[in-house]
Amino acid sequence: MLVTQQPVLRDFWYPVMPCSQLLPDRPRSFQLLGQKLAIWLDSAGRPSAIADRCCHRSAQLSQGVTHDGCIRCPYHGWSFDRNGACVNVPQFEPEAKIPASYRVPAFRCAERYGYVWVCLSDQPRQPIPPILEAEDPSHRLIPQFDETWHCGGLRMMENAFDNAHFSFVHADSFGDKQQPIPASLEITPVEQGLVMKTQVPVANPPQQQKNLGIATATTLRTNEQIWYMPFCRTLKITYPNGLMHLIFTAATPISDHASQIIQFCVRNDTEADAPAADIIAFDRQVTLEDKAILESTDYDTPLALSAEQHMPSDQPGILMRKQLSALLKAAGETEQCRAAS
Ligand code: FES
Ligand code: CO
Repeated sequence: MLVTQQPVLRDFWYPVMPCSQLLPDRPRSFQLLGQKLAIWLDSAGRPSAIADRCCHRSAQLSQGVTHDGCIRCPYHGWSFDRNGACVNVPQFEPEAKIPASYRVPAFRCAERYGYVWVCLSDQPRQPIPPILEAEDPSHRLIPQFDETWHCGGLRMMENAFDNAHFSFVHADSFGDKQQPIPASLEITPVEQGLVMKTQVPVANPPQQQKNLGIATATTLRTNEQIWYMPFCRTLKITYPNGLMHLIFTAATPISDHASQIIQFCVRNDTEADAPAADIIAFDRQVTLEDKAILESTDYDTPLALSAEQHMPSDQPGILMRKQLSALLKAAGETEQCRAAS
């Protein structure tokens, strides 16, 4: 499925960057599903997103500045508000009317969990994933990763629900090399994607024992995972000592070659129990193990089940492909693929 060729994917919310990257006077650029965006903070401090192309002579608006809550083009200084309307043309006399055609496309843009989210259509099919734990003031939210990976979002999502890769990809972190038989799992399709429940025995390297407050070399993770169609997931891990470590990951589709990986975690312990830097360091190791493999896979992930071979533990990925196929069908689209080479 080539993500930029399936318009229905524009009907979902995607996180694009941490809010901390938006400075009061400097816009940022981001490419979502091939659409170049200029993103900035308006005068109310709300993130705003419009097409990154001025309607005058096509200069990149994101190279301009933020001024009076609007974005000002670096070429001739036209200013645009969060609705994409041109509200100031410095070359005009003050009383001159600005033509209504002076405008650029504007997109839905919101802040949630400390990140900027964008939806390219006016009718999102699902809300931004509701993560109650991330809004619970008794928990802490730790921003982890924000970086570009050269892999497809669906590869990333099915990897996150794949119990069969731990003893290989994660042999140096939490995987058990001696136990390649994957833990059993229970999956339920839901409107926004799927829910998976599983219990996975894992290895605890010394640093991870400190992070978890567990002094044993192995332990049992109880996982409840939700896939939010098309490219977000939560993994809520509960350990036997009551520690909860919830990971949110998005593989926001940039283009047909790359995804922006955005990850944060939420924990019910404190900085004194486990420093955020140590938690990030362990999840970093795990994430880089996945990155090395995922970037070696074909970017274009086929939805047709006949295109690749499967084993029983691939049920979550198979269900994702079926649900995305159904989504395309409901939208009247056919899957667009790269020609086989
Ligand atoms: Fe933007 Fe001229 S190109 S104001
Ligand atoms: Co993995």
